[in-house]
Amino acid sequence: MAVATPSGSPLTLGSNAGAGRRHSLRGTVRVPGDKSISHRALLFGAIAEGETRIEGLLPAEDPLSTAACLRAMGVRISPIQAGAAVLVQGVGLDGLQEPEDVLDCGNSGTTMRLMLGLLAGRCGRHFVLNGDASLRRRPMARVGQPLATMGAQIHGRAGANFAPLAIEGHQLHGAVIGTPVASAQVKSALLLAALTASGSTTVIEPARSRDHSERMLRAFGANLEVGGDMGRLICLHPGSSLRGLTVVVPGDISSAAFWLVAAAITPGAEITVENVGLNPTRTGILEVLEQMEVQLEVLNPRDVAGEPVGDVRVSHGPLKAFEIGGDLIPRLVDEIPILAVAACCAEGVSRIRDAEELRVKETDRLAVMARQLGAMGADLEETADGMVIQGGRPLHGAELDSETDHRVAMSLAVAAQVADSASWLHRSEAAAVSYPGFWEDLARLQADPTGPAG
Ligand code: S3P
Repeated sequence: MAVATPSGSPLTLGSNAGAGRRHSLRGTVRVPGDKSISHRALLFGAIAEGETRIEGLLPAEDPLSTAACLRAMGVRISPIQAGAAVLVQGVGLDGLQEPEDVLDCGNSGTTMRLMLGLLAGRCGRHFVLNGDASLRRRPMARVGQPLATMGAQIHGRAGANFAPLAIEGHQLHGAVIGTPVASAQVKSALLLAALTASGSTTVIEPARSRDHSERMLRAFGANLEVGGDMGRLICLHPGSSLRGLTVVVPGDISSAAFWLVAAAITPGAEITVENVGLNPTRTGILEVLEQMEVQLEVLNPRDVAGEPVGDVRVSHGPLKAFEIGGDLIPRLVDEIPILAVAACCAEGVSRIRDAEELRVKETDRLAVMARQLGAMGADLEETADGMVIQGGRPLHGAELDSETDHRVAMSLAVAAQVADSASWLHRSEAAAVSYPGFWEDLARLQADPTGPAG
């Protein structure tokens, strides 16, 4: 069982498994709001005319970083608390003020990359972006270089690849830009810059990444067309102002993924995750679970404020190995750490390919997951762009470390759930970056042997 400990000491996980009384996982859970949609609702609301009301915003560290940066530029945002709607008083497309201090993006790549696009075209204003040690190691030139073709002036270490980054705002011009990686952060930064550029901007992606920006910008009133093969080509025509609106944020499928896999691999488990965003650019995880022959049902499919939503129920059963790669990767990029855990519990050899992007996430997630699951006795090999995992080897309790990565912390908690003895997880507090109530939800699902948790 997960036992809350003071920050700094390791969290004990799965401690009852060895005593012959294994905790299963049963019940109903609502995961917090989608992180990608939360960032965008704050950002687009900030530059819209009038008020934007956000229901279900994720009250976690990453969106709080975005909100803090926007407040530092004069945007009024009501307090962000679980369960309360957040009100953003938009300042219009050109209303952001020059901040007095460095803008702190914390651990959030989405904050920093989208801020680069948002701020590069603010004529005559100067901005400095910084972040924590992990963020200062993450590549930013993937945004800065295409922005430079629109006239942006961004300076920083290693050819402006690493924060701290200084932005000198300039009038940008539209361009046709092919992005080298299928990244929604890069695409969204360019679309933000395009809003105030002179002339239209076309972004062409190598594979389609999540499309929350396209959907939400349209709803706010931007003039945007999506075309090309599979929606890889997005054209934004400037000139329309954005109008504040109500955004309803669905639960984050990337957070739901931990419970879906936990239910699939834990004997006796059945979990229903309610109100999960099911945007097709994000549902790659469900396709892999189907490939594994997981017992999975989508209940109550519906549309909420322009995004498909449903409840997802998974129960335990035998699992088959999977193979993933190619255009599927951007549709499940954040779920690969938890899929590596699922692979350890499946029959046969699972293969993850074309996932080199994981090396530049909050940590090098291929190396970190290989190291941590290896400590539990998993039979896996790290490759340049993925992993090969031989399933079916029992996982043992071990001393584990999130290495500061939120998705690693939660993936290891799920792995510890099925280990044959207790584990200790260092730096478990990392989960708060995207899922502040994760440890409480885990304890609640473990504690409820019969049915829906209250
Ligand atoms: C995100 C896009 C993805 C994802 C990240 C959130 C977004 O990153 O990994 O957690 O909100 O746009 P990339 O766009 O770099 O793949």
